[in-house]
Amino acid sequence: MNKFILISLFVFLFIGIVYSDFNIVGKNYDFKPTTELRSLYSQQNGNDPSKGYHKAEVYFKTKVPSLNPDQSGVTSIDCSDGNKITLGLNDKNAIEKVNDWPDKVMLLISHKWKCFGKKTTQYFMIKNRSIDTSNNKVTFITESCKVSDWSKDFIIDLSWVNGLSNKNRRNLNRKALIPIKPIDISNTLSLNVLFNETTGKSSSPNFPLLQDDNIALLCENCFLKGDATLSMKIAGSFDFRLDLTEATIALNGSALMNIDLSLNGTAGAGTSFDKTLLSIPLPGNFNIPNIFSLGPSVDLVASTKISTNVTGSLSFGGDISLPNFNANFTFIDIKNPKFSQSGFKPKTKLHNPKFGLDSASSDIAGSLKPQLALGVNILNGIFEQKLGFQIVGTLNNNISVGGKGKNSCSRKTQPRLKIDLNGNLGFFVNDDNFPVVNFPPLNLLNKCL
Ligand SMILES: *[C@@H]1O[C@H](CO)[C@@H](O)[C@H](O)[C@H]1NC(C)=O
Ligand SMILES: *[C@@H]1O[C@H](CO)[C@@H](O)[C@H](O)[C@H]1NC(C)=O
Ligand SMILES: *[C@@H]1O[C@H](CO)[C@@H](O)[C@H](O)[C@H]1NC(C)=O
Ligand SMILES: *[C@@H]1O[C@H](CO)[C@@H](O)[C@H](O)[C@H]1NC(C)=O
Ligand SMILES: *[C@@H]1O[C@H](CO)[C@@H](O)[C@H](O)[C@H]1NC(C)=O
Ligand SMILES: *[C@@H]1O[C@H](CO)[C@@H](O)[C@H](O)[C@H]1NC(C)=O
Ligand SMILES: *[C@@H]1O[C@H](CO)[C@@H](O)[C@H](O)[C@H]1NC(C)=O
Repeated sequence: MNKFILISLFVFLFIGIVYSDFNIVGKNYDFKPTTELRSLYSQQNGNDPSKGYHKAEVYFKTKVPSLNPDQSGVTSIDCSDGNKITLGLNDKNAIEKVNDWPDKVMLLISHKWKCFGKKTTQYFMIKNRSIDTSNNKVTFITESCKVSDWSKDFIIDLSWVNGLSNKNRRNLNRKALIPIKPIDISNTLSLNVLFNETTGKSSSPNFPLLQDDNIALLCENCFLKGDATLSMKIAGSFDFRLDLTEATIALNGSALMNIDLSLNGTAGAGTSFDKTLLSIPLPGNFNIPNIFSLGPSVDLVASTKISTNVTGSLSFGGDISLPNFNANFTFIDIKNPKFSQSGFKPKTKLHNPKFGLDSASSDIAGSLKPQLALGVNILNGIFEQKLGFQIVGTLNNNISVGGKGKNSCSRKTQPRLKIDLNGNLGFFVNDDNFPVVNFPPLNLLNKCL
């Protein structure tokens, strides 16, 4: 049995994609506390109406009257003096009305104000007020509080707003292998892993999966490219504990997975491995501090299985594209998630295989398994899970000598090569896997060499 040394891979990726933070969207509703506490965020970049963007709406039904200054025409917030918060407005009448406010009012101060030096969403109960009408300001003595203690329920709604021209859905197809002009998709979630936009190929060509004196197994050109838009709706109530009433994440997008492997040397029987090649966080800041974060990342797992001894060189590969997929996961019951999906109809293409093997019968399989993981964190850890989906694409190479009937070749010693592609889509929550669909197995090649 050969001993194989797995090369540890340290792949440094430089992600040059520009992405935008969630910005506060201000509104000019009345400067008057109510039990409906709303905030609005957007990743719209500039004012180009042709570009789509993600937005988020957050809602709390509060047990005491509450106010988000960003939604109530407040123009300045000053937190520089002890436990005092000073709000400035351009409206003298509104300032005077503060005298009519109830004693107990909760304030939501968004991350943009860096209140008391913290760039996060903070909640305060006001204790005392002093009005300065000449400067249109009101100062509250405040005490920090927890929004979950003072709310009945909440809704967090992240969605994608289509650009007007609606041309941001890229069609990924075979042309992907020749250089393409980069399209501005900066607002979507990029699924590119090991992909160089300039060359249209792997950014780490020929990286070794397995290498020692006897064998070199290389990922000649392995990458994932694509982009997706996300929507998420999580709602729940706070009765002693959190009860989720809605929990859905949906993804729309397109992706292309390319696998080209090459083998050179002697591989012993029963060689197999399964290895996470890399795990990278995806650019795209799905985070509103202290409200929610999505922490998207892609793990790329490669596996190979060789059933008999082979000597020689072999290269094989193919690509799988999912031009327009939609996956929707509902996980109110985290142990029993539900899905709906469409568009997981892979288009596959075989790349020209090259064989220089001795003529032993053999089975060689290579697969690549990208996992898109979302680390969901709601209200600073009140709900926290790692979930996502994985697509498995496996190329099976079967080389046989001396087949019978329809598997025979004209010469007895002539090897027959059969290449099949298998794949499936699954969903995972932490360490639990839930199969969703198996792609129909596809025979790409079956001929005598
Ligand atoms: C196959 O590999 C095994 C273990 O490495 C070895 O014992 C055997 O002789 C090899 N067979 C051939 C035909 O090379
Ligand atoms: C409330 O504010 C007023 C004016 O700043 C001050 O005179 C008063 O002592 C404060 N009361 C409390 C309980 O802090
Ligand atoms: C992509 O490929 C081009 C051309 O080979 C190279 O100049 C560039 O540095 C590569 N970019 C990355 C991020 O690897
Ligand atoms: C692979 O191929 C090259 C060139 O044909 C050769 O020099 C090398 O020894 C081969 N074997 C391995 C294990 O890399
Ligand atoms: C995905 O597409 C479906 C149908 O085209 C649409 O209803 C849904 O809102 C989209 N979701 C996202 C996250 O863009
Ligand atoms: C996801 O599925 C749920 C339950 O079937 C449905 O209520 C929701 O509208 C779907 N969301 C999207 C964006 O497709
Ligand atoms: C390869 O294919 C042949 C013919 O279909 C079959 O008899 C053989 O069992 C396959 N080899 C393996 C290891 O599955």
